[in-house]
Amino acid sequence: MRILAIETSCDETAAAIIEERDFMPRIITNVVYSQIDEHALTGGVIPEKAARMHAETLPTVLKQATFNRREKFDAVAATVGPGLIGCLLLGVSAAKTLAYNLDLPFYGINHLEGHIYSAWLENQPPELPALFLIVSGGHSDLVLMERHLSYRVLGSTRDDAAGEAFDKVARLLDLPYPGGPSISKLAVKGDPNAYEFPIAMKDENTLDFSFSGLKASVAYMISKLPKPMDDKTKADIAASFQETVSKTIIHKVNKALHMYPDVRSVAMVGGVSANIHLRNELANAIETGFPQIRFIVPQLKYCTDNAAMIGVAAIYKHMFKQKSSWDGVEVDPNLTLG
Ligand code: KG4
Ligand code: ZN
Repeated sequence: MRILAIETSCDETAAAIIEERDFMPRIITNVVYSQIDEHALTGGVIPEKAARMHAETLPTVLKQATFNRREKFDAVAATVGPGLIGCLLLGVSAAKTLAYNLDLPFYGINHLEGHIYSAWLENQPPELPALFLIVSGGHSDLVLMERHLSYRVLGSTRDDAAGEAFDKVARLLDLPYPGGPSISKLAVKGDPNAYEFPIAMKDENTLDFSFSGLKASVAYMISKLPKPMDDKTKADIAASFQETVSKTIIHKVNKALHMYPDVRSVAMVGGVSANIHLRNELANAIETGFPQIRFIVPQLKYCTDNAAMIGVAAIYKHMFKQKSSWDGVEVDPNLTLG
């Protein structure tokens, strides 16, 4: 079984062919065209521009992913939400048209489900029950998965997502979009203990996140500093902010693991999981506090948006016989998990 998957929910135009072999997913092709350089010119994603760029590049990306039609497939999948409506519509229309014309099944995939299934692209995939930390530009969620394709959202952000906080703090420091990579690069040269920022809802009995207070406290700190800021000060702020995000996340993961002692694996997925400091800190915290738990974080190229993860989720939908009806699946920019 081979699935052609399409991902166009935000600013990556992506297509991949994923094969199911011995009940495990295997990547045949994986093509990602990132629009980041274009959006960096305006300091963020302009939805209309992103949709137009998907329309321009998707045919070429599809040609590359299918090796000019030499790679065959038996089903088509696409991200149906959450994401930018115009961007989602382009990918889903292309996928449904292909599925209809080739008389193949269609699988509509939740983008967050895709991020979760990126953990199955690793050699040692999660063992269930597993706890997923989804940290991306639009989401910060803790999700418990006891069975395949079944999700219990234990906590979510109440305001900004972790990636959004990176992007906004980067803007405060005059760093280029996207903020995550810019901050992590600068943070290497800074002192993570130079400034103390608050860990939101530390003592509250909730697995929800909140990052807008952290962003506001960085903004307040910057407003009090002499201008222009020197490079060392900026690096110290970047490192201290990144350290606070890591501590916040580790605190919530720890809390979740105490509340759900049956969890056998923890996986961190989504764009922010590309952050090296966070990867190292969370790995250390789990190894020290919960040595029996397997920690998984995908390779960097599968942390940010890609179609391989959408294809893997579709492979599991195929294995568990959850085909979407071709005309019954609509895009939903606010789609949730579960
Ligand atoms: O998963 P993703 O590609 O798209 C969404 O589904 O939102 O995540 C994009 C987010 C952006 O906010 C970006 O700043 C952040 O992931 N990001 C990072 C890093 N690389 C990307 N955040 C922190 N450190 C990074 N190295
Ligand atoms: Zn994403």
